[in-house]
Amino acid sequence: MAKRRSAFLLLATLLLASCAAPASTVPPAATTEKPTATAPAVTAVAAPSRTPSPDTGCPLRRGVNIGNCLEAPQEGAWGMKAQQEWFAAVAEAGFDHVRIPVAWSAHTGKELPYAIDEVFLKRVDEVVGWALDAGLAVVMNMHHFAEYCEDPAGQRERLFAIWEQLAEHYKGMPETVLFEPLNEPNGNADRTFNNDVAELIRIIRKTNPDRWIVVDGVHWANLQNIGSLRLPEGEKRLIASVHMYEPFQFTHQGASWAAGSGAWLGTTWEGTDKEKKFVDDLLDLAESTGKKLDVPVYVGEFGAYGMADFESRVLWTDYIARQCEQRGMSWAYWELYSGFGVYDSGRKKFYDKLLGALIPGEDH
Ligand code: GLC
Repeated sequence: MAKRRSAFLLLATLLLASCAAPASTVPPAATTEKPTATAPAVTAVAAPSRTPSPDTGCPLRRGVNIGNCLEAPQEGAWGMKAQQEWFAAVAEAGFDHVRIPVAWSAHTGKELPYAIDEVFLKRVDEVVGWALDAGLAVVMNMHHFAEYCEDPAGQRERLFAIWEQLAEHYKGMPETVLFEPLNEPNGNADRTFNNDVAELIRIIRKTNPDRWIVVDGVHWANLQNIGSLRLPEGEKRLIASVHMYEPFQFTHQGASWAAGSGAWLGTTWEGTDKEKKFVDDLLDLAESTGKKLDVPVYVGEFGAYGMADFESRVLWTDYIARQCEQRGMSWAYWELYSGFGVYDSGRKKFYDKLLGALIPGEDH
């Protein structure tokens, strides 16, 4: 697995827009347009009333990732831009939150004071505002900070400065906006992130004493590595996050950014006892680590790519979602619209069976 996730190449993710998917899910052609410069800032938004997850106090339950938009180097570079109408559709489908991956580092100065580009910040404000207006909670993360993962010592100050600005900027947001300091720490950050995240939490707490903070485990937030996660003692409102893409040969078959994935095409998932046990054991580990750390566990990404057999995707998705829920763990499907998508933005429709696997018992 170490090797498999390490095969993720940031540059290769640029190919996402051209990833093959079922005929009706092919994303629109890539564009290099930039985000709207005149996007209005978030206006005062009332906190939606929500029922926290019963066992853990975590304000998240069932969510979906708004992938491939704001974490592209420029929004639109991977073929899509976030649309306001998505958020009402997501809420209506029965999700309670969205996770919004954002490539903050691509829009931040490389020298002191590491200022975040104001036009980009306003665009993120707009998208966050759309989610809140739709009654959804929001996990706002820092995605694809590859420079930090390569050179933590050289980029640490920048990472801290970005979050200091974000924490100040978003301090007035309702508590249903959660911060996730770094998506999938990996590479050299495997050795530094546990310490650096403790400092990030201190920085965020100066302006956001009660904000929920989602902390990814090292080594791509792999379930197998959740045991290495260290959280500062005595800190409240922390959530441990893992990503679930197992078995990887099934979920990433045919994915252009996963080395060797062409050979995995045709891998099915049928829910045999052996297949179930493999994922159960991993989820058990996440659950027991959460108990040990005394924090809720969030499976912030899970999903199977559109090149996999659709029936298998439905079975796997249903199984993972229910198993997380049985363990009191919240989750966010990767992703709304694109290669793993549960929603067809062109037709403005969810794929009913996949949606039914995520949110059962609704009339989809
Ligand atoms: C990670 C990557 C993202 C990729 C996803 C599924 O979140 O950052 O680009 O699409 O995993 O492989």
